[in-house]
Amino acid sequence: MAERHLLIGNWKMNLGPTQAREFASTLAHRIPALTRTDVWVCPPTISLSAVCDELRRSSISVGAQNVHWAKSGAYTGETSPDFLKDIGITFSLLGHSERRTYFGETSETVAMRTESALAEGITAVVCIGETEQERMAGATQKVLQEQLEPVFKRIEATTALRLVLAYEPVWAIGTGKVASLEDIAATHQFIRGLWTNRGYQCQPTILYGGSVNPQNFREILGIKEVDGALVGGASIKLDQWLDLIAIAEATGI
Ligand code: 13P
Repeated sequence: MAERHLLIGNWKMNLGPTQAREFASTLAHRIPALTRTDVWVCPPTISLSAVCDELRRSSISVGAQNVHWAKSGAYTGETSPDFLKDIGITFSLLGHSERRTYFGETSETVAMRTESALAEGITAVVCIGETEQERMAGATQKVLQEQLEPVFKRIEATTALRLVLAYEPVWAIGTGKVASLEDIAATHQFIRGLWTNRGYQCQPTILYGGSVNPQNFREILGIKEVDGALVGGASIKLDQWLDLIAIAEATGI
């Protein structure tokens, strides 16, 4: 289990540069001193520079929502890991279910992006999760394994240290439905098992995501297999986001 909680806010396609700068500035002023929680935020690509500027002197890390596998070239609409590093980006989400569902991202391209991010010193937060249909068919574990296998194939034990996994059941994202505490614990245990079977010596950081809010977060973070959360909607509502940070700070590791 990780030594600190990790709370990541995925702003998705919300908060353009002006709004993002304002939000980040207020957040930087209102965030308490953190003793046991790392707080990271992922603005849209076009807002990254503004948010990096605002948060440069804060404890909050800024990350991207995706990163390409090549350093440069004919890849219209994509972002190179080098460009991200140039503005101070330290981590990126990879394989978010919205990328997989709407933009044809496959587990293989997610693995290529992950390998490249890690090689360039960018921490990779790889998102995995089953759809409702897959869950109903009893295929959750198979799906998670298939999503992770190509990533594991490309990642050496030495770079696995900078790999974070986020379990986000697709049916729980933005729906207000949350997996049961038993299901979250069992699935995180299963993911941990896949990691251990792979032979990595370090312990993985595993986050839960999907309709996390200040009402349900305390219980979710209380599950010993859960190291933190990947949060969408509640991460761009400042009071809710600060409440989530306060809960993480108040919860024992
Ligand atoms: P919600 O917290 O809005 O359900 O989104 C979760 C998510 O997709 C974070 O990446």
